Amino acid sequence: MTTDSNRVIIFDTTLRDGEQSPGASMNLEEKLRIAETLEEMGVDVIEAGFPIASEGDFESVSEIAKRAKNSSICGLSRASQGDIQRCFDAVKHAPIHRIHTFISTSPLHMKYKLQMEPDAVVEKIKSSVTFARSLVEDVEWSAEDGTRTDPDFLCRCVETAIAAGARTINIPDTVGYTVPEEYYKMIDMLMNRVPNIDQAIISTHCHNDLGLAVANSLSAVQAGARQVECTINGLGERAGNAALEEIVMALRTRKDFMPYETGIKSELITRASRMVSAITGFSVQPNKAIVGKNAFAHESGIHQDGMLKHAGTYEIMTPESVGLDNANKIVLGKHSGRHAFKDKLSALGYELGDNALNDAFKRFKDLADQKKDVYDDDIIALVDDEVMRV
Ligand code: KIV
Ligand code: ZN
Repeated sequence: MTTDSNRVIIFDTTLRDGEQSPGASMNLEEKLRIAETLEEMGVDVIEAGFPIASEGDFESVSEIAKRAKNSSICGLSRASQGDIQRCFDAVKHAPIHRIHTFISTSPLHMKYKLQMEPDAVVEKIKSSVTFARSLVEDVEWSAEDGTRTDPDFLCRCVETAIAAGARTINIPDTVGYTVPEEYYKMIDMLMNRVPNIDQAIISTHCHNDLGLAVANSLSAVQAGARQVECTINGLGERAGNAALEEIVMALRTRKDFMPYETGIKSELITRASRMVSAITGFSVQPNKAIVGKNAFAHESGIHQDGMLKHAGTYEIMTPESVGLDNANKIVLGKHSGRHAFKDKLSALGYELGDNALNDAFKRFKDLADQKKDVYDDDIIALVDDEVMRV
């Protein structure tokens, strides 16, 4: 895996955090298909599951690891030896593999969830990362609820994890609470205050409870983070995780402002999105950025006219760049204009004279007023009718 200063590592957790979405469970065969697609897309690290969670999870992480070639296969584990060993036993089959271990560091989580004192948490970080490092080279450590952690304590935890051998330090916004500027400052603080930070890559892991997961992740990258944890379609607990397709396309589209590279073949995004949606049964909202069915559709007359003159007028990226064919992007409806209507007719093989066109356009507008979408068949019926009337 490259550590170029502008290269952002894409860590996909669709199969772990994504699957934690209520109702999104996947079987082994489905997970293998998704993992294969993620690998084909160029995902750097695939978090394939939480091996201690169940026999099924252990089996799927092991099977994904056995088939992996270029992507690193990662498993999640709590900060105990049993979890970490089980994780290792599953991921070890992959040519490149990683153990990801975590513990909570916020006052709320330490007091109520862990019922541990801060010093004991620091000891646990040291022992868990040391044990993981005795098994593998590549260890990631996460500060669960990192964004609600006291900054001094967070620095102490991060320094301890790196000293024990962690090479990726993940700062999750577990409850989707932070905002871009605050998260930027937190990553910047770690970069400046933790003495051994240059031995590790900082990672972001943002949840979408306030709809800020992607914005927060990009903000962290601008502050120096070089790994982004994300999921296809933003699948994940509660309101989900940062969406892989949005991160990748934002970095690709706004290189002028964010000069970072990923290794993702963006042309496979639509295929991956449809696969995850079909397997989980979670449909993608029509206006979802990048992969929603309307993400590249234009209905209003002004937009359609502009698009027909130059696609750049209303599109900041091409549908082809996310693997969508160009065919259906002009959608005819009541807001459409004469230019788009005429264009559609000629695509359907009709060339009408001015009078017939005017008449057909008026009848099309009447129809569009009554119908949400006007399909090709509606237009053919309308024009055939027109031709017969002449
Ligand atoms: O959201 C979170 O904090 C997590 C960690 C386990 C990485 O998913
Ligand atoms: Zn998470």
